Amino acid sequence: MNEVNIHGGVKWQSPSNIAIVKYWGKSPKAPQIPQNPSVSLTLKNCRTEMAVFYEESDRFGLRFYFDGKENPEFQTKIADFLKSQMSRFPFLNQMDLQINTNNTFPHSSGIASSASSMSALVLCLLDIETSLRGAEESTIDLSEASRLARLASGSACRSLFPKAALWGATEVFNGSSDEYAVSLENDIAPVFKTYHDSILIVSDAKKAVSSRMGHALMDTNPYADTRYAVARQNVADLLTVLRNGDLEQFIHITESEALQLHALMMCSNPSVMLLKPNTLRIINTLYEFRRETDIPVCFTLDAGPNVHLLYPDQHAEMVERFIMDELEPYCHEGQWIADQVGDGPSKC
Ligand code: PMV
Repeated sequence: MNEVNIHGGVKWQSPSNIAIVKYWGKSPKAPQIPQNPSVSLTLKNCRTEMAVFYEESDRFGLRFYFDGKENPEFQTKIADFLKSQMSRFPFLNQMDLQINTNNTFPHSSGIASSASSMSALVLCLLDIETSLRGAEESTIDLSEASRLARLASGSACRSLFPKAALWGATEVFNGSSDEYAVSLENDIAPVFKTYHDSILIVSDAKKAVSSRMGHALMDTNPYADTRYAVARQNVADLLTVLRNGDLEQFIHITESEALQLHALMMCSNPSVMLLKPNTLRIINTLYEFRRETDIPVCFTLDAGPNVHLLYPDQHAEMVERFIMDELEPYCHEGQWIADQVGDGPSKC
């Protein structure tokens, strides 16, 4: 009898997400368990597209192409994760993989791609597993996808869900878990589903501090316990605000979280300063614009100097004009990315 050579390919796209209440600090209890719950909005335009081709072999092999070129740094990160998951996906032990991936956002944007790329990777793996089982339709268990994505990169576990997600156990939300994120799609007022995220690129430099190092600095941060208690309260308050559409409270929690993240970095040992003069110029100009217009636009920050402006679609024209007229001069080469809340990953 002729042996059948198993081979095939799958392709997925998955978005990045922006945290409103931040995950900053890992629990020592188990790998990639957060010290506090976090909540994010799922983005639409900042995405990773990933194709994985597989062919049966006598051992595990990986060739990795980013934007059509080999990329040893990403290859090692992906290979390490795949090797750590051999017992979960035994077929990997006898598979040659070729991964072709690209991001829809420029590399020079300073935007971390681990959430979009790692969520895309686990979707591809689960899809291959389904095909190898011989199932006709691929039905992916999003909780399992989220659990696996978390192991690859914490915040990636929140990218799997439409509109908004909650990661981390909290008594105020049934079904929440430290192991995986859950969808908030049915728990947010319609206005939040229209939100825009305009990402103002203050610097295109690669992150000065990896998030792994940043999380580790929380282990010795003197404010850590207070931070985790405040974050837990902010998640409880934010879940109420997301349901009732109170935009003033949304602004308050969002900006307080962004500034706390950076305050925590500044009072770590060693201290980390990721804000740039233009980050502060943008924030101050935004405060003034909000005071003058009463438009409910607010900012958040990731672990870097770029500023995310969040606002409802009904104010998009005014805010975009404000960005072009007053904020572009503070952006690196005038760059900003127009994104908005999106529907999560999809198979291509
Ligand atoms: O998922 P990580 O380990 O890259 O950490 C993400 C940390 C922040 O982006 C700063 C906050 C968050 O919750 O996404």
